[in-house]
Amino acid sequence: MKPEVLKVAKYPPFLDAKLNAAFTIHDMTAASDADAFVASVAPTVRGLCCFGSSVVPGTLIRKLPKLEIIAVVGVGYDGIDLAACKERGVILTNTPDVLTEDVADVALSLVLNTAREFVKAHEYVVSGAWSKGAMPLATKIEGKTAGILGLGRIGRAIAKRLQACGMKIAYHGRKQQNDVDFEFFPTLKGLAEKSDFLVVACQGGADTKNLVNAEVLAALGAKGTIVNIARGSVIDEPALIAALQSGGIKAAGLDVFANEPNVPEALMKLKNVVLYPHVGSATTETRMAMGNLAYDNLIAHFAGKPVLTRVI
Ligand code: 8YV
Repeated sequence: MKPEVLKVAKYPPFLDAKLNAAFTIHDMTAASDADAFVASVAPTVRGLCCFGSSVVPGTLIRKLPKLEIIAVVGVGYDGIDLAACKERGVILTNTPDVLTEDVADVALSLVLNTAREFVKAHEYVVSGAWSKGAMPLATKIEGKTAGILGLGRIGRAIAKRLQACGMKIAYHGRKQQNDVDFEFFPTLKGLAEKSDFLVVACQGGADTKNLVNAEVLAALGAKGTIVNIARGSVIDEPALIAALQSGGIKAAGLDVFANEPNVPEALMKLKNVVLYPHVGSATTETRMAMGNLAYDNLIAHFAGKPVLTRVI
């Protein structure tokens, strides 16, 4: 008998094929009535798989009496109710490391894209504006300060890239780290004041919700740019829109939003933003590595072995 796994996210075909071969997959994304579907499979479901951006509430976890493991295809797990997992003794796994470099590439791209305005530059050529004169000058990044909020694996990979571009690196996080010589700021406001580019790379969830608020944006100031490859929840989105509209900050490069895939109309109308559809890890190679790691976690667990990348 193959273990039964509830799938609550849409996966690429290669991963669906692997999962279907090893497990009996109950695909909630294809159900017309999610509640009725969950009720029908609940007694026998032993695993659940989802994306890093998925929401798995305690109400769902508690409906699955035989649930043993949640395998996240993603490094973030802020959408999973950890308290419910702990209460029910459910193992949680994620996919760290394999996506670090790709997400850092997207952060670098957003720094360059906001500073050098590549989206506008492309538009400048295809609209024919170039024939009427050169594009207005952009902003140099060499010598500027990049403040990184959250110097974890991804934050460090971003620092490495921005340092290679000649930027000065500073950071804020829960604590100062001994093995780097970047300037540490004990407050986010202090980091924002120092930064030309504030790059958000911390975890999402209740602890970091709206950490980047109106006060932090004011500290970043009219010459400052914010980049977010972490979670939309970390930034107070209405405060960000207000700061972009008023010129309180210069620009924003965003890969993540508060209520994906819904991007506020007001944000989309602005000319000083570069918006990506949450694509930090979205390369074929990396999504395969993430999918394989989540799959290997499920296989290990159901073979009675320790999982590879356990969160709790
Ligand atoms: C998403 C991510 O999982 O790893 C994470 O936490 O945010 C991403 O890799 C992926 O983009 C699917 O939403």
